Amino acid sequence: MDIATTPTNPEGNPELADAAPSPAEPPVILRKDYTPFPWRVPQTKLAFGLGVETTKVVATLNVERNPDAEATQELRLNGDSLKADAVLIDGEPAADWTMDGPDLVVTLPGKSHEVTIETTIDPSANTTLMGLYASNGMLCTQCEAEGFRRITFFPDRPDVLSTYTVRMEGPKDQFPILLCNGNNTASGDGENGTHWAEWHDPWPKPSYLFALVAGDLVANSGTFTTMNGRVVELNVWVRAEDLPRTDHAVESLKKSMKWDEETFGREYDLDLYNIVAVSDFNMGAMENKGLNVFNTKYVLADTDTATDADFDAVEGVIAHEYFHNWSGNRITCRDWFQLSLKEGFTVLRDQLFSQDMQGEAVKRIEDVRILRAAQFPEDAGPLAHPIRPDSYREISNFYTATVYNKGAEVIRMMRTMAGEEKFRAGTDLYFDRHDGEAATCEDFITAIEDGAGLELAQFRRWYRQAGTPRVEVSQELAGDGLAVTLKQTVPPTPGQDVKGAMPIPLRVAVHCRETGAIGAEQLIVLTGDEERFTLPLSGPVPVLSINRGFTAPVVIERDLERDDLVFLAASDDDPFARYEAMQELVVKHLVAAASGDLDEAGRAAGKTAIGDAMRAIVTDGDLDDSMRGELMTLPSETYLFEAMATGNRKADPGAIHNEREQLKAAIGFTLKRELESLYARVVDVSFDDPAGRGARKVKSIIAGIFAASDPERAAIMAARQFDEADNMTDRQGALMVLCGLETPARAERLAAFYDRYQSNALVVDKWFTLQALSLHGDVQEHVKALAEHPDFTMSNPNRVRSLYMAFAGNPQGFHAVDGSGYKLIADVILALDPINPQTAARFVPALGRWRRIESVRAGLMKAELERISRAEGLSRDTFEQVTRSLEG
Ligand code: TRP
Ligand code: ZN
Repeated sequence: MDIATTPTNPEGNPELADAAPSPAEPPVILRKDYTPFPWRVPQTKLAFGLGVETTKVVATLNVERNPDAEATQELRLNGDSLKADAVLIDGEPAADWTMDGPDLVVTLPGKSHEVTIETTIDPSANTTLMGLYASNGMLCTQCEAEGFRRITFFPDRPDVLSTYTVRMEGPKDQFPILLCNGNNTASGDGENGTHWAEWHDPWPKPSYLFALVAGDLVANSGTFTTMNGRVVELNVWVRAEDLPRTDHAVESLKKSMKWDEETFGREYDLDLYNIVAVSDFNMGAMENKGLNVFNTKYVLADTDTATDADFDAVEGVIAHEYFHNWSGNRITCRDWFQLSLKEGFTVLRDQLFSQDMQGEAVKRIEDVRILRAAQFPEDAGPLAHPIRPDSYREISNFYTATVYNKGAEVIRMMRTMAGEEKFRAGTDLYFDRHDGEAATCEDFITAIEDGAGLELAQFRRWYRQAGTPRVEVSQELAGDGLAVTLKQTVPPTPGQDVKGAMPIPLRVAVHCRETGAIGAEQLIVLTGDEERFTLPLSGPVPVLSINRGFTAPVVIERDLERDDLVFLAASDDDPFARYEAMQELVVKHLVAAASGDLDEAGRAAGKTAIGDAMRAIVTDGDLDDSMRGELMTLPSETYLFEAMATGNRKADPGAIHNEREQLKAAIGFTLKRELESLYARVVDVSFDDPAGRGARKVKSIIAGIFAASDPERAAIMAARQFDEADNMTDRQGALMVLCGLETPARAERLAAFYDRYQSNALVVDKWFTLQALSLHGDVQEHVKALAEHPDFTMSNPNRVRSLYMAFAGNPQGFHAVDGSGYKLIADVILALDPINPQTAARFVPALGRWRRIESVRAGLMKAELERISRAEGLSRDTFEQVTRSLEG
């Protein structure tokens, strides 16, 4: 499979040729070592002779000295598993070129030259899904971050921008459609059943934004007329059988284009926008200029096969990739340490878009839930890193929740402090000032300072310091005000023992529990280690509502009375604060119970308070059901681990799971009548009713609660919901409940689901996930059996994730006290690493959390990490994650 396992030596130097590649540790790359590339590449011409097993690539680079860099005659072109068939300089076979490890180095005496390199690659053997690979008979590419160097030798770094002209040629029957970045400038038929197409992208771009696709595809097409009257052709390309599921993607694209014009003043800049769906893909999607490549999961949706959440995810990812056209493509990153420049900003942009499309309150709560489930644990563990990291070995490991989601939160704080209008002035200045450049996070911050009139000197710490700040709140009555003292600490993280205070913007209000008065909101910014703010009272019994809207990505530590939390959960005017109070009430109770801090009376009191708050939520006639569903959702077990593992206390996954299930049962008993009548109402709401979405959400939550309190009743409810479902949301929700129960309906409905959808890979993924995520006691046996299922394969990342990511996220199975869940995931990492290292490495963080877990499990997790680290020939990806997990 590897084309070049040993470095070639054109000069025939036997010493060089025989030098065995040393199995040394992959080097650490440092942010502070950045230097500009000594050459510019104004033009790049690529010619592809396409074949699934053999693809020939001829790359012609026009290079010239970079006046802004130190002069050198050496031109170093990155390669990865590549061998050059020919190297020409200014049209003549090159006399001296050498391989230095994977890179090709030529010496260029003059100021500008033309360098031509021929390579041959085998896409069918490329299981890493980086570079050019085959998927379902088609050919496609993934070049971010460093995949282009698997196609041809090139300065594969984001600060080298080039204008690309591409010619593709291949068998017409196999590849009737030939796509690349930019515009199709010419096409025609060749000899022996081949055809060809030429593409030109007028916008200079880094190599990571290059893309090509060749295959048997059909398009759902549309047009969009931009604010300046440019008519853009839109195509969503899929395999013929998937065409009926593409309308939502096309509509989402049109909405995104319109929204970005209205909200950020950004207009699309080509006449064509292509999206291609591929079923083998490492991530969600990729923003290649004019030719986005998407995981099918984020393109295909219809009501029979996709849930409401799937529809939202398609809309959000289409928007994300579209928004990259400005935040990423027109302005790209100088180096990969600046990744959050494009990703943090683009996530914020897609979040704001989805808030406008789907409703602000619920979307904000969902985004906070994701942050807490994925980013908080990362920030508290061995893999913690600042949103702008200082070092890496393998950049793919830094496409993290920290860079993406915390990055978005950091920019959202700037927006909160500036206000919407001034923030827009800041982003306008940024787009204007850096258009066409490869920029840095520092450039972005400065543009926001200048454009929005903010002073962000201390705020820059959010880019440098890792770790989730904790803000301790205490309060006392002070005359006619409430004196609130805020004290912040930023916990130590690997490589960062001491931290400075961060500016923390908090929207606050003081309500009154006695009169029910709702206080006016204001924004305060905590900048010191400790500060006191005096806030106006709205009545005699003040209740502080803080971090409303989750204005800062911090942990608030406050000791509110239970009655205060119940009051806030029932009455706060800020929807997020209301959700938060409910979460806090439950977290406090469950952490205390799981830690053994509660006696029988304490337990009962906690459950009563939660029951009261839940009753208010279940019966609140003014609440819409989508929001009701959010308020009824108990904190995830991952979030509870975080809350339990503070200070010297360790998380006990078993205790948390048991307590959480018991609480669910208690809610089911106490609120049986209220839940039944809510269920009776929502079950009658039809699919197309505008209230249908909320109704579906609440329906499955109630069935889930009854699964804990009255499993027999829940089994009947869920089976009926499954049988009567006219959409995937109800069907999947019902099957999820059944999967956790000991009932004949479980196997029956699972089989019915499989029979109905076995030809649809995305739904079969759901079928695997439902079983791997289930609350069933035999989940581990189920997962092992599913790994033997004929539909299971290690070579498709969606399928691997559908089974094993789901299992790694199922505390009951993964944290089995005998360590068998850890062993299972470690075996997956070892088996997957040689096939697809990027995807393999993504399983490591689950094991990496060992330090914060009680000692028996911690020892077992660590032993599995050590076993992986001893394996020979580990990829850079997995090596780095395992090493950091053991050191941190
Ligand atoms: N830039 C892509 C996005 O956020 C992410 C991405 C897609 C990616 N494929 C990848 C990152 C492969 C690393 C490797 O939209
Ligand atoms: Zn992105």
